[in-house]
Amino acid sequence: MLAKSSDRVHRAVLGILGLTTAASVAWVLWQGHDFYRTPLADRPHHADFRDFRPAGRIGHGLGIVGSAMVLLLLLYSLRKRWKPLARAGPLRYWLRYHIFLGVAGPVLITLHTSFKVDGLVAVSYWSMAAVALSGVFGRYLYQQIPRNVLGEALAPEAVEQRNETILVDLAGRWGADQKALDALDRLALGALEGRPVPAALLVLPAVNLILARRLQKWSRAHGMPADGEPRDLARQWVLAARRLHVFHLVRDLFHWWHVFHKPFAIIMILVMFVHVAVAVALGYTWILGSGS
Ligand code: HEM
Ligand code: HEM
Repeated sequence: MLAKSSDRVHRAVLGILGLTTAASVAWVLWQGHDFYRTPLADRPHHADFRDFRPAGRIGHGLGIVGSAMVLLLLLYSLRKRWKPLARAGPLRYWLRYHIFLGVAGPVLITLHTSFKVDGLVAVSYWSMAAVALSGVFGRYLYQQIPRNVLGEALAPEAVEQRNETILVDLAGRWGADQKALDALDRLALGALEGRPVPAALLVLPAVNLILARRLQKWSRAHGMPADGEPRDLARQWVLAARRLHVFHLVRDLFHWWHVFHKPFAIIMILVMFVHVAVAVALGYTWILGSGS
């Protein structure tokens, strides 16, 4: 009950934040489209130059808000690792805010650049783009672990254990010999092994669809009863073995995804600090000083 109502609250907050950001972005694009479409050389003479250039009243503000959003989204890492925050709400809500900020921040920063990505700070910009885009893929993998791949909210160890029991049953009660069990293993994983994750995820429904026929053949070839409990057990075993296989593939890939996601995030933030330091040193202090 409590979990449901806090879920609603977070959805509402994110909805309001999303709508406010979308409306602001739409307004900036509406007001600034003529400036953004003006060739770089002519921009200083444009009436909107003071507002929409990266150091302008609006452009600079967009850079500051967008960068603040990107810094805020790093709190997700802090929540994951810092013990005092361990009780500060479930991680999945934090991830939703991380994703909102990870999309909104880069969009505002893109408007800040006024679509002119030059100089050292381009390293920061393109690292940001790589992190945000790879985030979408990471989110997809994250969702596959473990619920979608395992098809249930069970830990992989529990699925592995249940599969062991099924094998013992098939051998002990139904007389399946080692040859039959090896053949069942090939039947389960033959089409999946050696394939990368996307291919394995695509092949999985197709091989599951023809499973009944393959099991019939297997039963006949190994002198097992053609239907009833042994067929059911074999079916359960094959389905779980396939899900476990894909689960391990996805988990490994997610690990490598983390290895990729993090360094780009770090490069982006470091170069962003250099960029901000240079901007402030050059006297650009937004509405807080006389720079703009
Ligand atoms: C990751 C975050 C950021 C990125 C990727 C970024 C990117 C850029 C880019 C591409 C430009 C145009 C460079 C050029 O005209 O050659 C620019 C200009 C500028 N940015 Fe940022 N920016 C970021 C954050 C910030 C923040 C937080 C501030 C302010 C505190 C800021 C202040 C400025 C200023 C003042 C300029 C104009 C500099 C000039 O005209 O010489 N930027 N930024
Ligand atoms: C500028 C934008 C972004 C930055 C700087 C960023 C940074 C990070 C960092 C540093 C982590 C590692 C967290 C940790 O394990 O400590 C992370 C994880 C993650 N990010 Fe992002 N991210 C950005 C955008 C996005 C976007 C747009 C999405 C999704 C659409 C996303 C989805 C994820 C996911 C799913 C994880 C893994 C969560 C986990 O393993 O617990 N990120 N991000």
